[in-house]
Amino acid sequence: MDRDEIIRLLATTDADEVRALLKAADEARRLSVGDEVHLRGIIEFSNHCARNCRYCGLRRGNKALRRYRIPDEEIIELACGVRDAGIATVVLQAGEDPAHTTEHICRLIGRIKDATGLVITLSIGERSFDDYRAFKDSGADRYLLKHETASPELYRRLHPDSDHGNRIQCLRWLKQLGYETGAGNMVGLPGQTLATLADDILLMRALDIDMIGIGPFIPHPDTPLKGAAAGDLELVLKVIAVTRLVTGNTNIPATTALAALDPEIRLKALAAGANVIMPDFTPVHYKRHYEIYPGRSGVPSDIARVLAGLEKDLAGIDRRIGKGPGDRKSRSND
Ligand code: 5AD
Ligand code: SF4
Repeated sequence: MDRDEIIRLLATTDADEVRALLKAADEARRLSVGDEVHLRGIIEFSNHCARNCRYCGLRRGNKALRRYRIPDEEIIELACGVRDAGIATVVLQAGEDPAHTTEHICRLIGRIKDATGLVITLSIGERSFDDYRAFKDSGADRYLLKHETASPELYRRLHPDSDHGNRIQCLRWLKQLGYETGAGNMVGLPGQTLATLADDILLMRALDIDMIGIGPFIPHPDTPLKGAAAGDLELVLKVIAVTRLVTGNTNIPATTALAALDPEIRLKALAAGANVIMPDFTPVHYKRHYEIYPGRSGVPSDIARVLAGLEKDLAGIDRRIGKGPGDRKSRSND
């Protein structure tokens, strides 16, 4: 599929054509990654951030936000909870917190690996090549770093203090170091066009990205973009569908941002190419301050109930919860 064809598919509003696109993506998902829906337990262990992304509630300029750091002991306990829930992967996510020295993160990774044996995914932003190598040597297996947008120009407008080239370089380093690497974008960013979205998809294919997080932009009232419109949900589904068709056997989550706008839409995403869900293990008294965008704390936090509900929902669409770590590498390409 070339750029023009992608743009044309994303542009269509013809109900039959949209339905056919989502169905084709669902079939491609079934053939390339099967019917299992893989779970990743996520722990948001700090909401401090040194950056000032114009869309994000954690930006350093947001003085209204209560900041927290979960102590290491407690993070390890939460990771044990992920393992006890039968989930094979933990995602450790935080803002770009200056308190997270390389040594500290390495020690934390080592302790979690020793205590749980889980596959460890880090998501703590842009770091140096040496840092990424040290994390890998300490036991990190995967890394999520959304590229946010493929347009350097749009990126500059949204991130006054950071550089698009460096972000892409980080993704190349992560791949080079052997991480299963995640990227992704937001749909509906002010100033974004369908051509930008096509470029997002083609960029991720060119970088051979393994995990792809696609979610709607949701305006946060304490950010400069508070007056902007939220991303369109049908367009998010179309981007997920085309991404599945273009990238084959990648892992694509039905993102929390989608569920924040409409709880029902998660299943629609799973029927349009997605194959991953990331249940949140962050205790609610922290989670309510991890306010990247509004509406997150409305997501229920009783994990046993969440998982039971999920199992039932999945059975309804002939899908099942995946066993094992659900990595990409063990599958043949396409
Ligand atoms: N709406 C939707 N997603 C957002 N993110 C940050 N701010 C918003 C927002 N307002 C996403 C970005 C980032 C991740 C931590 O959350 O993609 O990578
Ligand atoms: Fe910080 Fe990430 Fe939010 Fe940017 S998107 S302000 S780096 S938490």
